[in-house]
Amino acid sequence: MKSTFKFLVTLAFIITIILGQHLKDVEIEVKVNDLLHQMTFAEKVGQMTQFSGTNKRYEQMIREGKIGSLLNVIGAEENNRLQKIAVEESRLGIPLVIGLDVIHGYRTIFPIPLAASASWDTVLIRKAAEIAAKEAASAGIHWTFAPMVDIARDARWGRIAEGAGEDPFLGSAMARAQVLGFQGKSLADPLTLLACGKHFVAYGGAEGGRDYNTVDISERTLREIYLPLFKAAVDAGVGTLMSAFNEIGGVPASANQFTLQTILKGEWGFDGFVVSDWNSIGELVAHGIAKDRLEAGVKGLTAGVDMDMEGRCYTIDMEALVADGTLSEELINDAVRRILRIKFKLGLFEHPYIDESIQKELILHQDHIQTALELARESIVLLKNKRDILPLNRKELNTIALIGPLADDKDAPLGTWRCQGKQEDVVTVYEGLKNKLGDEVKIIYAKGCDVKNNSRTEFNKAIKVVRKADIVVMVMGESADMSGEAASRADLSLPGVQAELLNAIAETNKPVVLVLMNGRPLTLSNVESKVTAIVEAWHLGIQHGNAVADVLVGDYNPSGKLTATFPRSVGQIPIYYNHKNSGRPNNPSDKFTSKYIDLPSSPLYPFGYGLSYTKFKYSDIKVLNNRLLSSDELVVSVNVKNVGKRDGDEVVQLYIRDMVGSVTRPVKELKGFQRVALEAGEQKTVQFRVPVQELRFYDSDMKYTVEPGDFSVMIGGNSVEGLTANFKVISLK
Ligand code: NOJ
Repeated sequence: MKSTFKFLVTLAFIITIILGQHLKDVEIEVKVNDLLHQMTFAEKVGQMTQFSGTNKRYEQMIREGKIGSLLNVIGAEENNRLQKIAVEESRLGIPLVIGLDVIHGYRTIFPIPLAASASWDTVLIRKAAEIAAKEAASAGIHWTFAPMVDIARDARWGRIAEGAGEDPFLGSAMARAQVLGFQGKSLADPLTLLACGKHFVAYGGAEGGRDYNTVDISERTLREIYLPLFKAAVDAGVGTLMSAFNEIGGVPASANQFTLQTILKGEWGFDGFVVSDWNSIGELVAHGIAKDRLEAGVKGLTAGVDMDMEGRCYTIDMEALVADGTLSEELINDAVRRILRIKFKLGLFEHPYIDESIQKELILHQDHIQTALELARESIVLLKNKRDILPLNRKELNTIALIGPLADDKDAPLGTWRCQGKQEDVVTVYEGLKNKLGDEVKIIYAKGCDVKNNSRTEFNKAIKVVRKADIVVMVMGESADMSGEAASRADLSLPGVQAELLNAIAETNKPVVLVLMNGRPLTLSNVESKVTAIVEAWHLGIQHGNAVADVLVGDYNPSGKLTATFPRSVGQIPIYYNHKNSGRPNNPSDKFTSKYIDLPSSPLYPFGYGLSYTKFKYSDIKVLNNRLLSSDELVVSVNVKNVGKRDGDEVVQLYIRDMVGSVTRPVKELKGFQRVALEAGEQKTVQFRVPVQELRFYDSDMKYTVEPGDFSVMIGGNSVEGLTANFKVISLK
C-alpha cells in the first residue's frame, strides 16, 4: 500500500516535470515564431552570421541586427558592453550568443583532452568541464566550441590532442561527460556553457594525417567509427554542432546534405543548430564546388549549416535568390528558428548580462586547481618501469639530474587551445619536484638542448650534471604548438636533437627516467631501449609539475591507460586496435600474410595500455548466461586482485569480438570499462552488463542490427591481454 502510494507520487512528480518541460518548450516555440514574423530578411541573415572579435563596424552591424553571434571577445565587461548594444540598441533587441574555444579549461587549465581521456574517468572529466564552464561563463561567455569528438586513428594529425583518441565507445563516453559538464542541468543556469560537438564529421580521417586534407571513407566506417560520438553528444543534449573543413568522398562536410540533413537533422532529430567552422562555407570555393561566396552560402545553407562563422557567405544577396525561387525561404526560417530557440533556452532574453563581480571569486578557485591536479595525475600513463625503478626512492637518493628542454618550461604544459591560461599559473616539473623533495634530495637541472633548434652546445654541460647524479630524469617531447590545429607532423620521433642528447646521456650508464610531454602518440623505438622508465605526461595543464612529481616519488600510483595506439614507426600508420582481421592475418612463419618485412605489425604500446606501481591479476571470467536474445544483456564478471604492495586503481576493460558476420567485423571492440580502486592485496569481482543492442553494426544491407551467432568477450587491463569467454546471440526464429 505504502509502496503503491510512493510509486504514484513519484509518477505524478515525473509527469509534472515532463509536462512542465513540454510547456516550456511550447512557450519557447511560440516566442521564436513570434519574433521570426517580425524580422526582416537582413535581420534573419544577421542571426545566422558570426564574427570574431569586435570593432566599430561590427558594433554598428550589431545595432542594425546584422550579427547574431560573436566569438573571441574576452572579459565580462567587454561582453556585457557588446550585449548591451544588441539588447538595447537593436530594433528587436535579440541578444548575442558569444562563443569561445574553451577546450580544456578557461583560466584553470586542465590536461589536454587526449591526456584527460587516458584517465578513463568520466566523472572527473565532467567535473573539469563544469569548472571550465563556470569560469568562462563568469567572463560573459555563453558558448564553447567543445567537445571535439573526432576519432583520430592517425597520430600525425595534430588535432589528435583535442579528442579522446581512437575508440568510438570510449569517445562516446567522453563526449557525454563533457556535454553534461559544460551544459549542466539547465542551459539557463548562468554558470553553464552551451556546448558544441565538433567537427561534423570525419575530420580526423584526413589522408596522410595532414590537417584539412581529403577524407574518403565508406558509409559503414562513417556510421560505425566517426558518427557514434556525435550521436552520443546529441543524445546528451548538446545544443550545437560545428560542420567540418574536410570533404567526405567528394562532398565537403559543410555542404553535405547526407550527413547534416539526412542523418543529423533527419534520422537523429537534432533540434539545436549547426555552426560552420571558420570560413568552412567560404572554403567551398577552394574545394571547387562553388564559384563564389554566394553559391557557397546557398550550398552550406541547403545542407543545413545554420550559422556562418567568419565566412561572410550568408548575406542579404540571398534575398534575390529567394525572390527568384533558387533558395527556399523556409531554409532560412528554419536556421533562424534553431538559433533563436537556443538563445531562449540559454535564458539570454531574460538575463542577457553576466554579473561582473563573480569572475573574481571563481577564476582559479582553489577547488578548481585541486581538480586540475587530480585529473592531471590520473592522465599520466606509465609506459615502462624496468626493475621497478619508479617510484624514486627518496630515502636512498642523494642527487637527481633533471635534464631536458621541457623540465622547467611553463608554456608546454598549457598545451594547444589554452584559452585564458597563463604561464604564471603553471607548475613545471622542476618546481613540482622541488616542492615535493625540498632539501631531502638534491636536484641539479640542465636544459641540455631546445625542443626545436638543433644546437648541441649545451650537451656537455648536461652530461657533466648527469655524472654527479644517482639517477637522471629527462623531460622531453613536443612544445605546445606542435600539436593542435594546423600542427600535423610527418615525423613522430622526439623533435630536434632531443634523442641525440638522450643517447649521449644514456652512455653514462646512469639510469634514465624519461618523462614525455606531447600532444600525440610519439614513435619511441629509437629511445625506448635506452631508458629504464617512461612516464607519459602529455600536456597536463597548470598542475603539470605537481602531478608528475606525485607520480615520480610515488605519492600517486599511476593508473592512466592509452586511448591512442603508439606506433613503432610512422610507416605503420594508420594503426589502431579495432582493425579488421583481413583474409591473411599476420602469421610470422608465413611470408604471404599481412605484415611488413622490416617491422612487426604490432604497435610499441597498444590502446588501453598503462602500467602501475602495483600488479593486478585477473582470474575467473564468468559469463552469467551465454545464450542471449537481442533484447538481453550480457552479464559477465571477472576477479581482479591487487597482488602488489601498493594501493592502486585499475581501468578494467571489456572487449568483444563478433566471430562471423554478414560483413567483416573488427578483431576487438571496446564495450565496457570501469575504474576500480584496489588496496594492496584486495580482490574485487568486477561485473559488466552489456546490452546486446550494443553489439549492433551495419550489416550487408546497411541495416543497424545484431546478427545472431558466436561472440567472444575479453576482459583485461589493455586491448591485448585478457581473459576470454564465449557467448552466443540466438534468434527467436
Ligand atoms: C577553427 C577550428 O577548427 C575550430 O575547432 C575552432 O572552434 C574555430 N576555429 C574557432 O576558433
